[in-house]
Amino acid sequence: MWEADSGDLFANAMGQPMHTSGAARSVTGELTGEDLDVDRTLRPQTLDDYLGQARVRDNLRVLMQAAKERHESLDHVIFSGPPGLGKTTLAGIVANEMGARMRATSGPAIERTGDLAAILTNLEEGDVLFVDEIHRLNHQVEEVLYPAMEDFYLDIVIGKGPAARSIRLDVPHFTLVGATTRTGLLTGPLRDRFGISYRLDYYSVDELAQIVRRSARILGTSVDEDASAEIASRSRGTPRLANRLLKRVRDYAQVKANGLITWKVAAEALSFFEIDELGLDWMDTKILTVLTQTFRGRPVGLTTIASAVAEDPATLEDVYEPYLLQQGLIVRTPQGRQATLAAFEHVGITPPA
Ligand SMILES: Nc1ncnc2c1ncn2[C@@H]1O[C@H](COP(=O)(O)OP(=O)(O)OP(=O)(O)O)[C@@H](O)[C@H]1O
Ligand SMILES: [Mg+2]
Repeated sequence: MWEADSGDLFANAMGQPMHTSGAARSVTGELTGEDLDVDRTLRPQTLDDYLGQARVRDNLRVLMQAAKERHESLDHVIFSGPPGLGKTTLAGIVANEMGARMRATSGPAIERTGDLAAILTNLEEGDVLFVDEIHRLNHQVEEVLYPAMEDFYLDIVIGKGPAARSIRLDVPHFTLVGATTRTGLLTGPLRDRFGISYRLDYYSVDELAQIVRRSARILGTSVDEDASAEIASRSRGTPRLANRLLKRVRDYAQVKANGLITWKVAAEALSFFEIDELGLDWMDTKILTVLTQTFRGRPVGLTTIASAVAEDPATLEDVYEPYLLQQGLIVRTPQGRQATLAAFEHVGITPPA
């Protein structure tokens, strides 16, 4: 859970499949070792390299400059939003731009208050502590974290029963950077202790096309404008997916088209890998089919959908649902999830009268 070298830690934090909503799912299956290495090289290291999310970027730039000019550490920051939009990337950038050392861990990895105490007391002044999946911290650990965030001390209890006593330890001024796919699951007191909070939104096709071109440059692949736009438009607003599709298209082009990625090659490759025009993969399509065909547009509970498509409900909610909602293909009603007319149209099924 906790290791010494910040570089490795960062890699670890991103490399390990730490939660169901993480990498891996969808179109191209699990991340292989090679994919992970590529993932690391494609990850922007500075704000200038971070494309899109203009509001977050401009904002952070000002806040970081102000903190640096005052020789203070940045206030605690929380990034929230669907998987693959760049939360972990931003955490790394914050550390980089602040010239700080980054320590990384995740909510579920901090099991006991003693784990947290060990982490916090090993920090140095100015360090960035990145806690991924921060909504999964347990209650006791969270309680210990509050004073550490607010006043930079922690109270830990030593011993048990009548002999137990509490000691107070000072913690260096650090910046906590939290990431969560589920803002709704953060407790109020924890949320309140972050001075800076950003919600990341899906990227525009233009922004994703820029990301595809940047990644292609890094990978040494040539992608023309139309091809990058095509890949971008099927990436469901998500840079991680844009990069992954680019890699698959590159594979296809290498084998079938002398490595040149033109629009035609990109479009062919994407249909070869069964990514449709909206970027929906077979799981999304399966979900829509269940809602339109099996349930004929009636509202359906999350767990029912989950068992119908043989997927874990949390993954459905974190990974698949946000994009289907954003595209207006499904709606959430008090009775459950419901397919919209657009969904019927998309899967080519006539809606019930
Ligand atoms: N703004 C961006 N510009 C360029 N590339 C980006 C950007 N945001 C993310 N990426 C790319 O997308 C990949 C996924 O981003 P990241 O791991 O930061 O997502 P995340 O929000 O932490 O996802 P998760 O919730 O699954 O942990 C990164 O490896 C990076 O290459
Ligand atoms: Mg992440």
